[in-house]
Order: sequence, then C-alpha cells, then structure tokens
Amino acid sequence: MELFAPLAPGYERWGALLSLGQDARWRAEMVARLDLAPGSLVLDVAAGTGLIARLVEARGCRAVAIDQSGPMLREAYRRGTPSILATAEALPVADDQFDAVTFSYLLRYVADPLTCMRELVGVLRPGGRVGMVEFGRPRGLWGPPWWLYTRIGLPAAGMVAGDGWRRVGSFLGPSIDDLHDRFPGDALGALWRDAGLVDVHIQRRSLGGGVLMWGRKP
Ligand SMILES: C[S@@+](CC[C@H](N)C(=O)[O-])C[C@H]1O[C@@H](n2cnc3c(N)ncnc32)[C@H](O)[C@@H]1O
Repeated sequence: MELFAPLAPGYERWGALLSLGQDARWRAEMVARLDLAPGSLVLDVAAGTGLIARLVEARGCRAVAIDQSGPMLREAYRRGTPSILATAEALPVADDQFDAVTFSYLLRYVADPLTCMRELVGVLRPGGRVGMVEFGRPRGLWGPPWWLYTRIGLPAAGMVAGDGWRRVGSFLGPSIDDLHDRFPGDALGALWRDAGLVDVHIQRRSLGGGVLMWGRKP
C-alpha cells in the first residue's frame, strides 16, 4: 500500500499528534490486557515502525514485526525488532506457535476482514491472545465535533505535516466511517468470534475515538 511509504520517517511524531496524543495510551492498555508472561513470543502484524512490538519487548517478551511496507518496517528493524516484510492475509510463519498476535489500524485496509482474522488466529497457539487497537467513531454529542475534526481538522493538519500526510489526512475520516458502517454495534466482536476467538472484549476509549479489543484462542 503506497499510502504508508512516505510516512515512515516522521510517522511516530505526526501519528501521535494527529490522534491528539491518545493512541499511545490505547496501545499500552491493549498490551497490558494480554497478560503476557515474560518470554512470550508475540507477532505484531501491521507493525509499522514497531510501536507495539517495543511495548511488548519492554515487558520481557520476544516480538516479531510483520508489515507490508518496507519503509515503515525498516524503522522497526533499525530499532532491533526481528522483522518480516509480508501481508497480514498471508503470514509466512508456522501455525500454532505465537503466544499472542497484536495489530493496530489493520482491518480498514484488508479486503476481507474475516479471512484476515482467521489467518491471524491460525498462527496462535491454543490459549494464545489477540489484541487490537483501532480508531472509533464517537457517538452522541461528540459525533459532530469528531466529524468536523476528521473532515476539516485532519486534512488541514495533514497539509501542514506534508509528504504523504496530506493524503492520509483526507483518507482517514471516511476510512474510519466505512469500517464502523460495515461493522456496527457488536459486529466486530462477532467477526472475531467467527474467526475462532472466545472471551472477546471491546472497550471504547477517549470519548469513543479509540477502540480496544482483545480475545483468546480456545
Ligand atoms: C497506521 S500504521 C500502524 C502501525 C503500528 N501498528 C502503530 O500502531 O503505529 C498501519 C500499518 O499497517 C500496514 N498494513 C496495511 N495493510 C496491511 C496488510 N494487509 N498487511 C500488512 N500490513 C498492512 C501499513 O503498511 C502500515 O504500516
């Protein structure tokens, strides 16, 4: 996906800014919810520059990063995380071996989320955990300000950030809407259960602007 290649050098700085400083907390909570024992083997899919992989490593676990973008993944590799250039839909790793799979901001980019989720679940050992971070869509009173932020604020901020951010700024709001139109209410939970997960939890954070999910392979 061309979208990410130009973002790699400033991704972490600009990503934090455009999420209004919220998404670091979402990643940290999602990783904490996985209850990882030190030494656990964790596959971070759509790892980008390896932000989640590094949180996992800070807990004494071993992380492997996978991403389809060479420039994004190069940052993860440069910081010491073993990295594999591949897509989430065709993971080049053996089944049933990871203690956990993490991912963020992935399901909006895959053509068939159920097939992708089944692929992720396939590489988990029985009892292994999955954790996800995604953008949410605030409801009620916060819906209109969120809409204005994603349709006017983000595109404007993207223009200031320059490079590929201009495209991302315009793309992000409609892309988040599209995911939540396709998977309203508990449909994301149902998707995870259809993919073979149990104990599936969904929590919204930051007035609904963030969605955390975690679950377990039986
Ligand atoms: C917004 S970045 C998120 C990076 C990181 N997970 C984080 O929390 O900051 C989304 C990443 O997903 C990757 N990606 C998108 N579709 C993918 C796919 N089908 N397979 C693997 N990686 C994918 C992109 O290359 C990009 O690096």
